[in-house]
Amino acid sequence: MNDDSHDKAGAASLGWYGTPGSERPRRLRLSKGLRRMVRETSLGADDFMLPLFVTHGKGVRHEISSMPGVFQWSIDMLAAEIGEIAALGIPSVMLFGLPAHKDEVGSENFDDDGIVQRAIREIKKTAPDLVVATDVCLCEYTDSGHCGLLNRRDEEGHLGHECLPEGYVLNDETLPILARVAVSHARAGADIVAPSGMMDGMVAAIRDGLDEAGFEQLPILSYAIKYASGFYGPFREAAGGAPSFGDRTSHQMDPANAREAIREARLDIEEGADMLMVKPALAYLDIVRQTRELFPEMPLAAYNVSGEYAMVKAAAQKGWIDEERVVLEALLGMKRAGADIILTYHAKDAARWLAKGGR
Ligand code: PBG
Repeated sequence: MNDDSHDKAGAASLGWYGTPGSERPRRLRLSKGLRRMVRETSLGADDFMLPLFVTHGKGVRHEISSMPGVFQWSIDMLAAEIGEIAALGIPSVMLFGLPAHKDEVGSENFDDDGIVQRAIREIKKTAPDLVVATDVCLCEYTDSGHCGLLNRRDEEGHLGHECLPEGYVLNDETLPILARVAVSHARAGADIVAPSGMMDGMVAAIRDGLDEAGFEQLPILSYAIKYASGFYGPFREAAGGAPSFGDRTSHQMDPANAREAIREARLDIEEGADMLMVKPALAYLDIVRQTRELFPEMPLAAYNVSGEYAMVKAAAQKGWIDEERVVLEALLGMKRAGADIILTYHAKDAARWLAKGGR
């Protein structure tokens, strides 16, 4: 066999084994226009909800070291930031407060003059149409850093609940406090309350409390499916809500479980949740997809949490990834998985990139 015949034989055999059938998916990727025509998912500023940290003091614009570009704001500094958010077309924010004092029950949480309540009033003055959601949980407000009241010993050394471990986050005792916090946020002008503490019955307790106080029109966005996740690390610096001992595995979900997520979603819907959330997002897109398919009637949010943000930022700062491309790809993935609303610290950047024609 000479070289020429060898080549021919090779080409022929490649032709034989390698010829596609009449279907060629690449036809529709040939030009930008074609790609736009068959694009199944789109991303826009409308999809975003921006988490916002508010703190006491004056002139505070404190950057979170592990979350470059994310700040704690004092109330007097909020107006400009809120103006920017609204101008970018982002429809909503999720408020987190850093209280002046922490105590056993987290009193500032339901103080009508608390930090979140004051921030809501300020935002409503600046941008009345911006939807203000509030995180309803105890962990930023309790001295223990836990999401509820704890099983403690009295002076004689007896545990409040003998059958539960010391330090256990008590469920039913915590519910009335959550309802009180939600009502206080509602009175200050919140548009949505979002319980994040993973207490059983929290949605029902908050619904009852709101209805009784005349806020039957106020929607609840439940952090229905929230996993005990290492990805919340940077947030705990941002919001000052790290548990002083132990962890959150007795109330947040085990990352190994998917079927249990169905139960959490169903219960919250039965209790009156208006919207559901899956959190974190990136390692749980299967759960986003599952929830979308099993409860197609429910608006669904995905929370692109602090650790997910920090990883992208760190790699981008080192020049290891293209930040714009990676962020938009990840957010698109959340939307494609089935999220209607994406809570993300990237919201402002993403809205800017999308406005100038990024994906
Ligand atoms: C609880 C709460 C947490 C987050 C949102 N709400 C922290 C936690 O459950 O420990 C995490 C958000 C993030 O990591 O970006 N109030």
